[in-house]
Amino acid sequence: MKMVFLGPPGAGKGTIAAKAKDYYGIPHISTGDLFRNNIKNETPLGLQVKSILGSGGLVPDSITIEMVRNRISESDCAKGFILDGFPRTIAQADALAEMTDIDAVVNFDISSEEVIERLSGRRMCPSTGRIYHIVFNPPKVAGKDDETGEDLIQRDDDKEDAIKHRLEVYTSQTQPLIDYYTERGLIRNVKTNNRLQPEDVFELTKKALNG
Ligand code: AP5
Repeated sequence: MKMVFLGPPGAGKGTIAAKAKDYYGIPHISTGDLFRNNIKNETPLGLQVKSILGSGGLVPDSITIEMVRNRISESDCAKGFILDGFPRTIAQADALAEMTDIDAVVNFDISSEEVIERLSGRRMCPSTGRIYHIVFNPPKVAGKDDETGEDLIQRDDDKEDAIKHRLEVYTSQTQPLIDYYTERGLIRNVKTNNRLQPEDVFELTKKALNG
């Protein structure tokens, strides 16, 4: 199955994709993680996009589209994949449609207030990308990754100014994709909030994909 996870920053795309990749046996491709890995490894791409990610803006379409085109042509994507964070603009969606046919687009719907609560409490393992929340999804030992024991970090773009900018960018550039994919009959809506556990949201996601 080839699916896209759509939704505002902090909607839980990465958290649910981590569960869905095991359940469906397909790779989880997060464009945000791909960019962050390049930044961590100080590649030419990483140096080019570092300040863009820090401010919460979007990386130019041409760079992002080529990165995704290369990634989904790898052999592990032959049976399907979960695209998390791509497409984010109409131009990216048009490019994806030329690359392949998508089976479903899961739209995670959440209020801006809850997004801010989520992002300000998010912590991440720098090497594995595993995601936590200090209240809603805490690690077993405060500040440490459950498996590697590494110190958890806060993403640069989870600071107040960058969160605000990311939400504005989402509204102007990414939200129009809900109509784009609704018109193509691909949208599966999943309404989420901070009272639902990630496991519950994953159950709703499976139902939306089956229904
Ligand atoms: P990216 O990494 O994709 O960031 P994002 O879309 O803003 O999404 P997030 O990773 O912030 O949130 P999420 O929805 O995955 O939520 P999560 O599961 O972590 O992109 C980063 C940057 O890269 C962009 O700003 C841009 O610069 C660049 N970029 C990436 N893709 C691009 C593209 N296509 N084009 C151009 N530029 C691009 O959950 C959030 C928090 O909530 C966590 O703490 C989690 O523990 C908690 N949580 C999750 N589920 C629940 C629940 N059910 N209840 C309570 N808390 C929960």
